[in-house]
Amino acid sequence: MASTQGAQILVASNRGPVSYTLDVATGEITAKRGGGGLVSGLSAIDPDAGAVWVCSALGAGDREAVRRGIGEPGVRMLDIPADVHHDAYNGVANSTLWFVHHMLYQTPLEPSFGAEFRAQWAAYESYNHSFAEALAEEAADGAAVLIQDYHLVLAPRMLRELRPDLRIGHFSHTPWAPVDYFRLLPDDIAAQVLSGILGADRAAFLTRRWADAFTECCHAVLGPGIPSGTRIGVHGLGADADFLRARAHEADVDARMVALREQIGTAPDGTPRRTIVRVDRTELSKNIVRGLLAYRQLLDDQPSWRERVVHVAFAYPSRQDLAVYREYTAEVQRVAHEINERYGTPGWTPVVLHVKDDFARSLAAYRLADVALVNPIRDGMNLVAKEMPVVSDEGCVLVLSREAGAYEELGDDAIVVNPYDVSGTAAALHQALSMPADERAERTKRLAAAGTALPPTRWFLDQLRGLESA
Ligand code: G6P
Repeated sequence: MASTQGAQILVASNRGPVSYTLDVATGEITAKRGGGGLVSGLSAIDPDAGAVWVCSALGAGDREAVRRGIGEPGVRMLDIPADVHHDAYNGVANSTLWFVHHMLYQTPLEPSFGAEFRAQWAAYESYNHSFAEALAEEAADGAAVLIQDYHLVLAPRMLRELRPDLRIGHFSHTPWAPVDYFRLLPDDIAAQVLSGILGADRAAFLTRRWADAFTECCHAVLGPGIPSGTRIGVHGLGADADFLRARAHEADVDARMVALREQIGTAPDGTPRRTIVRVDRTELSKNIVRGLLAYRQLLDDQPSWRERVVHVAFAYPSRQDLAVYREYTAEVQRVAHEINERYGTPGWTPVVLHVKDDFARSLAAYRLADVALVNPIRDGMNLVAKEMPVVSDEGCVLVLSREAGAYEELGDDAIVVNPYDVSGTAAALHQALSMPADERAERTKRLAAAGTALPPTRWFLDQLRGLESA
């Protein structure tokens, strides 16, 4: 099956670099290129190198738009049956592996490994197999293949069996669960997850902490030693400073700043109100509700902040096929509304919540931020923590969860919180709002430098180099 004709570099991920929308009125298809580390990372490759990106067509827009839009050079969209995709993506990837790595189970959200899960697992295997087959077809002899994330943990071993000549890397963008939590998975499934990844020449993670957790799981589940000789790599991903600085000063961002300033308003003494900004997908692991509760406690504990501060919270819908995500979205809205009802005054809306995804408005909020609130329960990295200090006009204080991967690089200059500790987070917000301007400026400078030290192009090229030497 090997071919000298195929691509030398291949990327595989559930979501691809492009999505399509169909204008029903005109029948026109618009293709939108996504952002994210992989898209900008891949731009470091010579376009003539003929890299190929294998992804699922589902999630790339409605079916008709995708069918007619397909044809993007260098992108191969797999037409995986909807029921297989649903079980693999919603069932195994997002409801099981995501929950294990982010330690999200809590009563009544309990792990469930009965017949339904076993059927979903079979779909997950088939989904991974579709990727492995497509990669095997597309790859030239000895090509480098970079397989991404928890959607595709079985694909490395499957591909290895089809094409022993390839150099295969797997990259986890999530945290890796600690061993006792990982072993919630049935033993045979846990073993398949690990040995699937160990089919790669190199298994890479965003931080040393997640890499060590993976190694420990291998020892506990599969026996001592990484059996296949797979190398372990760590590649932190940073923010793209040049792109962000330029994009944040375009006209659409300026226009959104005007609108946001209007919503934020001025304090009784006539100065602009202070802002605590967060930008997330509405995602259980992001801990948005506890962030709101901490803000509410700040208004209780430190009433002098009333009328003088606004919590700007952007919570963009995510994974709405899952009931637990829909309920979480509703809970975020309910708590924000409750705070506004209880504390708001005719001229002051304590929480400005936006749920419609708008990148230009996110950048506008970054520029206005006095405090950046990033308090996930667990997070592979969290790029918002790295982006906001780069973009904020006046410098912002970062309140950061110690459970975010970004903590390893930013912990020294952030105010660090335990994400479950609402009172502690309220105190951290008070400390952040009260920080003297010169200290805040110094810290912002160091945060921006640390957060941009590993731009996406370098992150991507380092992985390729790591694979060459594997
Ligand atoms: C996390 C994962 C990514 C995923 C993203 C969005 O960051 O690591 O692989 O693309 O969430 O999730 P979604 O389910 O919307 O693709």
